[in-house]
Amino acid sequence: MRVLVIHGPNLNLLGRREPEIYGHLTLEDINSMIEEKAAEHSLEVEIFQSNHEGAIVEKLHEHYGRSDYLVINPAAFTHYSIAIRDAVLAVGLKTIEVHLSNIHSREDFRKKSVIADIAVGQICGLGYRGYLMALDYIKEAE
Ligand code: DQA
Repeated sequence: MRVLVIHGPNLNLLGRREPEIYGHLTLEDINSMIEEKAAEHSLEVEIFQSNHEGAIVEKLHEHYGRSDYLVINPAAFTHYSIAIRDAVLAVGLKTIEVHLSNIHSREDFRKKSVIADIAVGQICGLGYRGYLMALDYIKEAE
């Protein structure tokens, strides 16, 4: 199984960014755990982070026919990016949406996800573990 993992805007600042909400681990720490878990499950993984909507859209296009699953934390784009939603639909990857925080217990504008209804499922509020659980799911589902 080939898995594309995408981290959206501001997630490069993890560790320093509102740690009471997003935790103390850096993106590098989380990516190392993702790579470890992927190796354990014999999943081929590519990890990509960008602060730019277009770069995320283009990364998705690159993976048309190249990956089986998408694990994505679209960050703020979750709440309004129709371009990312359309790109996910266009490339047809089975998608798991991940959020570190519980987007349903925060500001109202975070409760809406334009990705959730086209995803296999959404994991939120469990911190970095959400990414690892998504990989556990993919291993077990396939
Ligand atoms: C987030 C939640 C979003 O609302 C926010 O804009 C983020 C991170 C999360 O992982 O909890 O940047 O996706």
